[in-house]
Amino acid sequence: SSTVITIDGPAASGKSSVARILAQRLGYIYVNTGNMYRAMTWAVLQTGIDPNDQDAVRQAAAGIVVDSPVTEGQTQVSISGRILSAEDLNSDPVNRGVSLVARVPEVRSRLVADQRALADLGPLVMEGRDIGSVVFPESPLKFYIDASEEVRAARRSAQGHTDQVAERDRLDSTRKTSPLVIPEGAVVIDNSHLTLEGAVQAVLDRLPP
Ligand code: CDP
Repeated sequence: SSTVITIDGPAASGKSSVARILAQRLGYIYVNTGNMYRAMTWAVLQTGIDPNDQDAVRQAAAGIVVDSPVTEGQTQVSISGRILSAEDLNSDPVNRGVSLVARVPEVRSRLVADQRALADLGPLVMEGRDIGSVVFPESPLKFYIDASEEVRAARRSAQGHTDQVAERDRLDSTRKTSPLVIPEGAVVIDNSHLTLEGAVQAVLDRLPP
């Protein structure tokens, strides 16, 4: 199947910006898998349940389909035909709930299957927490983009979010199913002191000619 460049890393490491620009340069489709977990969380919250209740999340999620239509070289996320906006996906309730929804194994297995199917559309740059470790472990083109906790907190507050980055990292790194890890064979890029262009170039430099 198609080439998939995998990009993993912790919250607010800069991986989304790097992945989006890299995909544009290469003419690949950009897939932000965090938005798929955010869309699932948005829809679960619409049902009124408490995201801490894993059984309730499992049941609600079983009836929810996250679609990923492609527009202008990147996937959007839609629920029942409604394309979710950045405001929907980055709301405070979604920020607080997403790592709780994403730790439910049944949620992960469904979204992972959807993510694998996207490779039928063409070459991808896919970004998330488990793309090189679980979704496309056979890809030879894996990257892990890191940045110091201070830099990540500063970047997130510059985006205007009061999001609990450290708490999401804790949940994402300690969950039983597919915790955030550096995937085997991934090139680690510490983005703390790089410009965005520098980080994109660091990835491009590691791609085969
Ligand atoms: O953009 P940011 O780094 O804040 O996070 P995101 O990529 O939008 O992901 C939001 C949350 O979804 C993460 O904190 C994880 O809990 C979950 N996620 C995941 O479990 N697996 C993925 N492949 C992507 C995201």
